[in-house]
Amino acid sequence: MLSVIDAKKFNTLIGINILINSNYSDIHSLLTQILESATRLCEGEASSLLIVNKEEKKLYFETALGVKGAEVKKFTINMGEGIAGWVASHNTSIIVNDVKNDDRHLKGISTEIGYPSNTMIAAPMRVKDQCIGVIELINKHGGKLFTQDDLEWLEIFANQAALAVQNARYFERVQAELELLQDQIHSGQGYHTLITKSPVIEEKLGIIDQVAGTDSSVLILGESGVGKELFAEQIHLRSRRNKKPFVRVNCAALPEGLLESELFGHVKGAFTDAIQNRKGRFEAANGGTIFLDEIGDLPLQLQTKLLRVIQEKTFEKVGSDKTVTVDVRILAATNRDIEALVEKGGFRSDLYYRLNVLPLYIPPLRQRPEDISALADFFLQKSMRAAKKQLSGFSDKAMETLLSYSWPGNVRELENCIERACIISKGEYIQSEDLLLKTGDASYYEEDYGADGSRNLKNAINAFKAHYITRVLEKNNWNQTGAAKSLDIQRTYLSRLIKELNILNPKE
Ligand SMILES: Nc1ncnc2c1ncn2[C@@H]1O[C@H](COP(=O)(O)OP(=O)(O)OP(=O)(O)O)[C@@H](O)[C@H]1O
Ligand SMILES: [Mg+2]
Repeated sequence: MLSVIDAKKFNTLIGINILINSNYSDIHSLLTQILESATRLCEGEASSLLIVNKEEKKLYFETALGVKGAEVKKFTINMGEGIAGWVASHNTSIIVNDVKNDDRHLKGISTEIGYPSNTMIAAPMRVKDQCIGVIELINKHGGKLFTQDDLEWLEIFANQAALAVQNARYFERVQAELELLQDQIHSGQGYHTLITKSPVIEEKLGIIDQVAGTDSSVLILGESGVGKELFAEQIHLRSRRNKKPFVRVNCAALPEGLLESELFGHVKGAFTDAIQNRKGRFEAANGGTIFLDEIGDLPLQLQTKLLRVIQEKTFEKVGSDKTVTVDVRILAATNRDIEALVEKGGFRSDLYYRLNVLPLYIPPLRQRPEDISALADFFLQKSMRAAKKQLSGFSDKAMETLLSYSWPGNVRELENCIERACIISKGEYIQSEDLLLKTGDASYYEEDYGADGSRNLKNAINAFKAHYITRVLEKNNWNQTGAAKSLDIQRTYLSRLIKELNILNPKE
């Protein structure tokens, strides 16, 4: 027992207790504060707090104080090695007042950093009697020797530090569980119903059944809004991984730095235990499938990292050089002209070939008219439920309008169109006017193309071309590659037409 209770020490201890109970997330600064207090009160010149990594049987320096503190942090110690290693493996505290003549002392570190150790005390940090770390103080001020009293105080601080680590670990575990539950709500349950009546899509689903059985990467291509994400879901749902997570990542949604840690996770500092680790989406998808949407927007540096995951199933978290292995099937999608991107050097060709082992091209809606009425009925049911409205369907004219429209925005545009029509319709059936699509509307042609006879045919055709191309460009956000694809013409031809017809991008 401590001989006399020193008021200063006691107050410091109370202060630390308050900190431990109020701060669960910034474990590093909390442990540093505990170490600082212990060092000051026991009059050490230098000190370290090490954390045990049970799996690797190693101790890592979490914080180190004193003139050489920063240099010490780069070392790791094997279990049983040196005084700290001895304390960890024996789970016992120790006073060594003649370090130089003690066999347990690890001379390597002292010599390498040029800081001789003369006296030391060290105590284990215990959670449920297990040693999870070690605090050690080096060289008592003024050449004095460490006392039994110092050691007993150090043990109290070590236990406080252990408590702080335990709290932080609980906190982190609970947070991870919370993230997983949120993810399940957002993505796990969020599978869509795939509607189709078209033989082309039935054929694609047949291919999906075949590829689902393999673990190969699949690159899903097609214009915006054709349903690429739904086909990715089908590959997962029809595979042996279907009970495991399906994790979606939109590569265009985050800046490069955040995307890297979102995908691969990160580790802060040298501290490799769970406390400061964050799992990435690849780890979250372990055993299941990851869907990398908008893969064409993946920055080059991450393309290199992804290539390695595909080839070796391994990666390193940000800030760590420890290799993580995962079992994840990779699906990717893009509406960009990825071959053109490869040519321009914006996409690694080796990654493209790796992903493109099984390319799956989803045709635009205008090439599968059989799907239009099936999808329109499905979206109408959904919209009626959302709008709490009861309608009997589409008028014949409305259905004709739907079938004759070219749907540059594909299924997404159809879905929006029906949702809007459901809200604005006043009768029992959705009418053509409710769709707000301009095809087949006579007055529209009259105004815009001079169908009253005021233009000659060539001028009228050019007016139509200019109008139609402008609309397709708008739908593609003025991306000429995308628009050319929708129009089924060469990009160079489109850019010539834009000049000839004097089409102007209002944003420029
Ligand atoms: N066959 C289908 N059955 C039912 N809904 C569909 C179908 N195809 C697409 N959809 C719906 O259309 C919308 C667009 O689909 P999705 O997001 O998969 O498109 P995308 O090809 O990924 O487009 P983008 O390239 O713009 O990301 C979604 O709301 C989706 O639910
Ligand atoms: Mg998409």
